[in-house]
Amino acid sequence: MSRETVYVQQCKGVNGLDKIILREVRGFSCEVYLYGGQITSWKNELGEELLFVSGKANFKPPKSIRGGIPICFPQFSNMGSLEQHGFARNRLWTLDPNPPPFPTNSTSRAFIDLILTNSEEDTKNWPHRFEFRLRIALGPGGDLMMTSRIRNTNTDGKSFTFTFAYHTYFYVTDISEVRVEGLETLDYLDNLKNRERSTEQGDAITFESEVDKTYVSTPTKIAIIDHERKRTFVLRKDGLPDAVVWNPWDKKAKTISDLGDDEYKHMLCVEAACVEKAITLKPGEEWKGRQEISAVPSSYCSGQLDPRKVLLNH
Ligand code: BG6
Repeated sequence: MSRETVYVQQCKGVNGLDKIILREVRGFSCEVYLYGGQITSWKNELGEELLFVSGKANFKPPKSIRGGIPICFPQFSNMGSLEQHGFARNRLWTLDPNPPPFPTNSTSRAFIDLILTNSEEDTKNWPHRFEFRLRIALGPGGDLMMTSRIRNTNTDGKSFTFTFAYHTYFYVTDISEVRVEGLETLDYLDNLKNRERSTEQGDAITFESEVDKTYVSTPTKIAIIDHERKRTFVLRKDGLPDAVVWNPWDKKAKTISDLGDDEYKHMLCVEAACVEKAITLKPGEEWKGRQEISAVPSSYCSGQLDPRKVLLNH
């Protein structure tokens, strides 16, 4: 990268949709579509893609984009009356002309502020006014930070309630060789069994069939270890007590029109979320939820992966 790094560049993406590219000096980059306020690419300094986006993804409103980091708001899943995962991922966000100060300890110059407010159409299905401010920042070390601030701007005195998730699709080399650490022994709701509550057993989470679980009250750090690539993703979250883990595996993948039959092998969703206990905001109140992800080389100790070391060091 030259000395004149362009930290923030606005351009056109697939199908002429508006896209913003964030770049950092060492070569890290990230791409964000205004459609959905959705990150669709996050690359390390070698130009390797760290997020999964399906080769069959629709970049055509009103469909959502399969992959990257869709924003699920004001509803995660289909638990209420709204469309699955809410409408935020299917709306055109705008650049926020007047962002509030976002306290940050990072010196990032590669960031953007987006805003979504209710359309008249939205208020028919969800009769509330809101301001959803999203800051996306790429740190100098390549870490990707997302901060959501949601404010109730109702003028009728009414509170509103919502659930939320950063639906992150991590790119993995081979799902059968992936381990997730930080969720073992926790309680989860099994979305494949009508949200039945169970407790996770065992050492770490590995994958050999379809998984769709909402872990509740999780620690703030989760590690996703891609053994084959010797890479560990570290996810940190704040204000988001839950974590959804999803992989459709082969049969379900075949039923998803915008996912290739074999693509499930290269994706894993680990989603910082607030699902079990919905958030309620009174008029004028604001909620904040943060996710930060980084990708680091996995540490090996006498041939053995030691993710705890990675977690301690980062
Ligand atoms: C996950 C849910 O977060 O998203 C799954 O837990 C769901 O139940 C998956 O199938 C994909 O949802 P969608 O609406 O993007 O196909």
